[in-house]
Amino acid sequence: MAEAGTLHDAFIDELRDTYDAEKQLTKALPKLAKAASNPKLRQAFESHLEETQGHIERLDQVFESLDEKARGKHCDGIAGIIEEGKSIMEEDFDETTMDACLIAAGQRAEHYEMAAYGTLIAWSEAMGHTEATRLLQQNLNEEKAADKKLSSLAEGGINQSAAKAAHPEEAEEPIAVASGGRKSSAKAGRR
Ligand SMILES: [Fe+2]
Ligand SMILES: [Fe+2]
Repeated sequence: MAEAGTLHDAFIDELRDTYDAEKQLTKALPKLAKAASNPKLRQAFESHLEETQGHIERLDQVFESLDEKARGKHCDGIAGIIEEGKSIMEEDFDETTMDACLIAAGQRAEHYEMAAYGTLIAWSEAMGHTEATRLLQQNLNEEKAADKKLSSLAEGGINQSAAKAAHPEEAEEPIAVASGGRKSSAKAGRR
């Protein structure tokens, strides 16, 4: 019987999975950028594409620091997330709703990466791979920043203008919430 694999083997396996995920994302991000109408959103996807290429380079260095050959292993998780993003892009949404959906798709990918790097860092740290830990942490920091950027674009206007298109009459009139005085209007109670 073959010897049981160790945490180090699992670590290398996860690294290969993440390496492949990053490569898949370098193909998906240009599509998200192209589908975006908001110029800041397009810019955010484009600049994260550049960062993603940097993530692959850092992972090359991680493999090197561990004396392992850099290679990927098909990542089904990110493939599924990318597939869902593609179906959304085929929908016939208004521009700003499409932007909100692209952000949702992008954030699913970022959170997947954040989970992967979180595990990789914890394992790397536990096994004392200092250089690998440092490099992986840099990638994680950029994933977190990209996720925050997408949230700030969504909450800084895109969701609001999509909501306005969905419910134009409600957006015209601010809802009074203070002193128990929710203004009664014909729209009250409509969801
Ligand atoms: Fe990445
Ligand atoms: Fe990312």
